[in-house]
Amino acid sequence: MKLLEEKILKEGRAVSEDILRVDTFINHQVDPELMEKCAKDFASHFKGKGVTKIVTIESSGISPALLTALEMGLKLVILKKQPSKVLNDNLYQTMVTSFTKGTNYELTLSKEVISEDDHVLIIDDFLANGEAVTGAVRLLRMAHATIAGVGVLIEKSFQPGEEKITDAGFEVYALARIGRMAKDSIEFE
Ligand code: G4P
Repeated sequence: MKLLEEKILKEGRAVSEDILRVDTFINHQVDPELMEKCAKDFASHFKGKGVTKIVTIESSGISPALLTALEMGLKLVILKKQPSKVLNDNLYQTMVTSFTKGTNYELTLSKEVISEDDHVLIIDDFLANGEAVTGAVRLLRMAHATIAGVGVLIEKSFQPGEEKITDAGFEVYALARIGRMAKDSIEFE
């Protein structure tokens, strides 16, 4: 998506070969107009694919996911990150390791909000190593839901996330694909 690529070039900052800062429009401050355009793109791409619910992972996935849900007339489910195991029969939980942040968390889904009848579109901000999305897929499988695909704002194609998700049999639709980064330089695929 040209508009997102232009914004990344204008305001994004490659702080190293693998970390892109997008604090002014995605992670810290959010640009609602840009997010709305991204949401319209996701909605148009996944239209007609039988999606019944949008699922995202807190916290930066929420803005594009909420607007996509609004655009598609669907409910949004937010997978929560909990620091430690909460014993509750009403929850599905799975451990996720974030390589970028060097943290572990329990990704959590309430049994009340997803059922086996759901065909889910996962929306997130970044696809890096694919651990968060893979955790979301594990939870959705526990709920016997099916997965329509994965939409991300920014895919870092030089990291293994896209291949992991595609190999698991799911489509990845990325609005911007970064092929290479170096300090202060960003190249799209
Ligand atoms: P993965 O989910 O694809 O495996 O990614 P990884 O664990 O490596 O990254 C974990 C967190 O770091 C995620 O945010 C992800 O969005 C974020 N992230 C990964 N690469 C970049 C990057 O180049 N730039 C920025 N700005 N973020 C990146 P999170 O822990 O879920 O936090 P939140 O921001 O959603 O709250």
